[in-house]
Amino acid sequence: MCECHETAAKVEESFEYDRLESLLQGFLGKKGAMVPILQAIQSEFGYLPRPAMEYTAKRLRIPVSRIFGVATFYAQFHLHPRGKYIVRVCRGTACHVRGVSKVADRMQELLGVGVGQTTEDLKFTYEEVACIGACGLAPVMMINDKTYGKLTTDKVKGILKDY
Ligand code: FES
Repeated sequence: MCECHETAAKVEESFEYDRLESLLQGFLGKKGAMVPILQAIQSEFGYLPRPAMEYTAKRLRIPVSRIFGVATFYAQFHLHPRGKYIVRVCRGTACHVRGVSKVADRMQELLGVGVGQTTEDLKFTYEEVACIGACGLAPVMMINDKTYGKLTTDKVKGILKDY
């Protein structure tokens, strides 16, 4: 079992059904509410926990497969816990030419996770993305909404210390 699945298992053991039930109350009986419901669940829990999808399916009296279908269709939904801080390293051409691979390797080493994974303490999620529109600053990464440019393998450790 990978770390993000282990973390999910821990979170789901103590799932708070009361929080979910009160959230669902605002949607029950409304048609076409599936996407808004999933958005609300994700906003409340940070991702779509499996127990939340199973419980929601029961409350809406629909098969859970329908909820999974919607959740996996839209890129905005996450089925595993995400970190408080989302680290996005740019793997676009300009960043590639300027050596982002070494920066990406260093960042994964420092965080101890791979692409798409979240640290065990749920602090960081590491992702790689295409051009983020700051090519002049290549190599570039973002942590949540903040952009860091002209990265080197030495710089990234110092940047992480600020979080
Ligand atoms: S290629 Fe990295 S910001 Fe454009």
